[in-house]
Amino acid sequence: MDGAATLPAVTHVPVMISEVLQRLSPSPGEVYVDCTAGLGGHASAVASRLVPGGTVVLNDVDPGNLERASERVRAAAPGVGVVPMAGNFADVPRKITEQGLRADMVLADLGFASGQVDDASRGLSFSRDGPLDMRLDPTLPVTAAELVATLTERELAEVLRTYGEEREAGRIARKLVREREVSPITTTGRLAGIVRSVSSSRSGSSGIDPATRTFQALRIAVNDEIGSLEALLAGILRGARSAESEGGSWLRPGARVVVISFHSLEDRPVKRRTAELVASGYAESLTRGPMVASEHEVSENPRSRSARLRGIRVGRRAV
Ligand SMILES: C[S@@+](CC[C@H](N)C(=O)[O-])C[C@H]1O[C@@H](n2cnc3c(N)ncnc32)[C@H](O)[C@@H]1O
Repeated sequence: MDGAATLPAVTHVPVMISEVLQRLSPSPGEVYVDCTAGLGGHASAVASRLVPGGTVVLNDVDPGNLERASERVRAAAPGVGVVPMAGNFADVPRKITEQGLRADMVLADLGFASGQVDDASRGLSFSRDGPLDMRLDPTLPVTAAELVATLTERELAEVLRTYGEEREAGRIARKLVREREVSPITTTGRLAGIVRSVSSSRSGSSGIDPATRTFQALRIAVNDEIGSLEALLAGILRGARSAESEGGSWLRPGARVVVISFHSLEDRPVKRRTAELVASGYAESLTRGPMVASEHEVSENPRSRSARLRGIRVGRRAV
C-alpha cells in the first residue's frame, strides 16, 4: 500500500468514512485540512472529490504517517495540491493562516492509527512487549518510562485517575512506585504485568485487559492529548467567530468541521465547544448528538465501536 518502498507497509481502516464524507460534503476546488492525516484514508477519499483543482493540507505529529498519507493522497487524486505539515494540530490554525490558506473542510480523527499501536517499538500496546515510549511525536522530550520513573506516587495516581478514569489508580500507583525501586520500569510488558498483578480480579468480569486504562492514561499524558485538543478547539472557535470579519480567518464562511473522538475525555470538550459555537450563532450543528458507527462497521472494524462523530458548519445563522 501507499507505494512507499522505504516505509514498512501498515494499514489503518478509516472510521465512519461515509458519515465523514456526508458531513464534509467536498466539492471540486475546495481546501481540505486534515489535522490527523494518519495513513491518509479519509484524506484520499476527500481528495478524489476535489478534482479539478483543490488543495489537501495534511498534518500529523508522526513523520512516517505524514509521508505515507502524502503519497497515498497524491496517488488517489493526481492534480490536487498536497501540502504536508508536520506537527501538533494545536498549531494548525496558525500555520494555515501563515500559508495564506482558508479551509472549506477540517477533519480531526483523534487518537492513534492501527499501525502505530501494532508497532511494538512505539510502546503503545500492552499486548506487544517493547520500550515504554508512547510518544506519537518522536521529538517530544518525555517518554512514558520517564514519567513512570519520575512522577511521585500521588502524581501517578492523579494521571491514572484523570486520564484513565482508573478506579484503582491509588493501588496501581503504589505498586508502580514499589516496583520501580526494585528496577526501572522500561518496557510495556513489565508495566502491563505490574498493573495486571494489582487488578487481576477485574480482568475476567469486564473482558477488558486491566492494563487498558493505565496505558490510555500514560499515552494521553505523554502526548498532552487533551491540551492539544483544547488548543485546536480554541482555534476552531476563534476561526468560526472571525470567519465573516473583514480580515477573515483560517476557516471560510460555510466551512465544515468534523471531529471524531474515541473516549469521553475527548468527546466532552468537543461537545462543549461545538455547543458553545452553535449557541452563540457562529455555526450550525451537522450532527444531532454524537454519531456512532453502524453495527455493520463495528463488526468489520472493532476500533470504530468507541467512535463519536460531531460536526458543525461555520456561519452566522440567518435571523
Ligand atoms: C486515528 S489516526 C488518523 C487516521 C486517518 N484519518 C486515516 O484515515 O488514515 C490519528 C493520527 O493522528 C495523529 N495525531 C495524534 N495526535 C496528534 C496531534 N496532537 N497533532 C497531530 N497529529 C496527531 C497520530 O499520529 C495518527 O497518525
